[in-house]
This record gives sequence, C-alpha cells and structure tokens, in this order.
Amino acid sequence: MDIEKIRSFFPILKTKVDGEAFIYFDTAATAQKPKCMIDAISNFYATEYATVHRAIYPHAEKASSMYESVRDDAQHFMGAAHREEIIFTKGTTESLNLVASSFGAQQVQEGDEVVITGLEHHSNIVPWQELCKKKNAKLVVVPMNSEGIISAQIFASKLSSRTKIVSICHVANSIGTINPIKEMIDLAHEKGAYVVIDGAQAASHIPLDMKNLNADFYCFSAHKLYGPTGLGILYGKKDHLEKMPIYQSGGDMVDKVTLKKTTFQKSPLKFEAGTPLIAQVIGFKATLQFIEEIGLTSIARHENALYSYALSKMKSMDAIEIHGSSSNSGPIIAFTLAGMHPLDVGTLLGIKGIAIRTGHLCAQPTLASFGKDSFCRISFGMYNTKEEIDVFINSLQEILQILPTRSRI
Ligand SMILES: Cc1ncc(COP(=O)(O)O)c(C=O)c1O
Repeated sequence: MDIEKIRSFFPILKTKVDGEAFIYFDTAATAQKPKCMIDAISNFYATEYATVHRAIYPHAEKASSMYESVRDDAQHFMGAAHREEIIFTKGTTESLNLVASSFGAQQVQEGDEVVITGLEHHSNIVPWQELCKKKNAKLVVVPMNSEGIISAQIFASKLSSRTKIVSICHVANSIGTINPIKEMIDLAHEKGAYVVIDGAQAASHIPLDMKNLNADFYCFSAHKLYGPTGLGILYGKKDHLEKMPIYQSGGDMVDKVTLKKTTFQKSPLKFEAGTPLIAQVIGFKATLQFIEEIGLTSIARHENALYSYALSKMKSMDAIEIHGSSSNSGPIIAFTLAGMHPLDVGTLLGIKGIAIRTGHLCAQPTLASFGKDSFCRISFGMYNTKEEIDVFINSLQEILQILPTRSRI
C-alpha cells in the first residue's frame, strides 16, 4: 500500500489541532471519510437528488436504481447468495434490535435461552436482555479467560437444548479479540440454535463470505468502514427474512393498505419502512468501490503491522498495562497507565492532536471482568502510520513524566 497516496484520499488528515498534526487512533469508534464518498454524497444532493421507490420522473428513477445497485454491491462485499438478503438499517444497533424484536420474539419462548459472550458491545447485550425479560427466557453469558479469549470448548459447554439464539461479536470492540466464529456458528447449529454475528469491528478488517460462514444474520455499520454515518447493513438468510414479522411499519414497506387490513412488501423492503437513507446508501457505493480498489486484504496487512509495532513498543513500557492479549486480534489495543485515569490520558493526548478513545467503550461488562470501569483504547485504520505511533509513544512518555500518579484509578 502506498500509504501517502491513501492518506491523500482523506481530507481531514491534512487538518491540524492547535498547530499539531491530527493523529486519528479512534477508527474502531468511527472511521474517517475518503473524499470520493464525501463527493458522491455532495454530488447526489447537488445534482441528482430525489426520492426512491415511489415516483417515475427521471430523477427518481435514477435515484432508485442507484440505491438498489448498492444492494448488489453490499451483496458482493458480503459474499451473500441473494441480493434480497441485504437490508439497509441505521446501523449495527438498529440491525441487532431488528433481529431481536422480530426474529428473536418469533423464536424465543418462556424458558428458552439466548447466548451472548462476555466480550459484547452494549448493543449486542441490551436488545437480548430486553427480549429475555419480555419472554421470561434466560440470557446465558459465555465468559472469557483472563486474556480476553472465548474458547470454543467453554462456548460449547454453555449451549443447551434450550438455546434458541446465539449472538456474538466477530471482533470485540473493547480489546480487539477475534472470535473463532466459524467454529462457534457450527457448534451452535449442531445444537439447533440460530446465530447472529455483530460484525461492526470486523467488516473493515476481515473479508466476509456469508455463504461459507453460514451465520443466520450478520451486521455492520457503514461508518466504521469509511462510509457515511446513519447506515447499517444487515444480512439475513432469505428463508428467515421471508418468515419474520415486520419490525417498523409505515410507507414503502407495504403492499396494499386498507383501513381494515394491510399487506406487506417482500423482504428486504418489508424491513425498510419510511423514506430510506438515500444519500447514505449512494455515498456507500463510492466507499465500497474505494475499498475494493485498495483491497481489504492489503488494508488488513497494513493494520496488522501497525498493531504489532504499537503493541511491542507499548509492552516495553513498564507503566502501561495492556488489557486483552489474544494472538488473534483486530487492530485495537486497550490499555491503562499506572496511577492515571484514562480520561486524563485522553485529554492530554487530545491536546497534542492525538485522538484516542477513553471511558467504558460501550462494553461495561467486559471492562468489569478486567476490574476496570475505564480504559484507554487506540485503534488503527488504513491511513495510520508507524511514524504516528512513534509520536503517540513519545507523547505517552511525556505524559508519564508530567502527570505522575496525580489521579489514581
Ligand atoms: C462491536 C460493536 N457492536 C456494535 C456497535 C454499535 O454500532 P453503531 O453505533 O454503529 O450502531 C459497535 C460500535 O462501536 C461495535 O463496535
């Protein structure tokens, strides 16, 4: 990868923070945006904008066909068998809520079990908690070990004949662990359970192949994949989607409405109520093309090299404690500095132009397993460099000197 060329595609990287270079180490929260995507959205609004699926004038027809073509692109990106298996949502959070409210409510009955892991983001915990509360079902949590790893054996031991749904992250947002999801999916299917995968942290790093993975549902957010905010992609097996009850109702998702009775469109439109995320979907087309041109495998190789480089530098510093040590990890490092509160560390790095994530990382149960309520987290994207990591390490060393154990954790 020609990293300077890649960086030139991201206008924000030329900006400064009080005269300091802007170093962005928070791609796991949301990725920065390439100019091609920004231009695609801006051009669409400026010259091509119209509604979709509803009108026959040329602008609307063109907008509709552009919008629907992105379903084909997303199908291709995910290696899904059918374009109807791709649903546009607002994000991973909405996708998981959709699956829990519709499929979950259909499948889970009193006394049944839903299995999640101790590595989940809040959005893959709370919808299942709510479902279990409503259905009087049990939420079973597969614990991780002290390194932040979920072993397939422990996972298998938590499955039972009452397990109806397993919902697990592909890559943990807090500490980066990559779960052995293919093995987990197969184990869950052997027990007769359905599997939902939260791929929010995986889609930008691991090439996807739904046909091979065989998950029942898989979801991710466009904004973490260098795409627009407000858009998520939900993959669901065609058979499930056809049988699932509606999630939201209103315009576009209906077939015929009378004041007595309404019939609905087939999936995927059945799940896309209201005026959809037209500009976001069209902007995402440019992103997917951009990713394809660079190649996800090259991106992952670059991110893995950054991850190993940063990890070895950080491990050599006594004052740093790294949380999670799976040898199979996404480009995410969670850490704390001895005697310093993560918020102090994040504030001081921010002043130096370095953006890192601090706090509970929307994964309070995971942090609690490490005996913490707050972490520092750095995460890398295609545009980061080893030089940026050097600046970060030097800044950490400076912080350790100027802020000696002022705010004990
Ligand atoms: C693993 C994981 N799941 C779910 C989400 C929620 O994604 P969104 O906020 O885009 O809906 C995130 C976002 O940080 C995440 O990292």
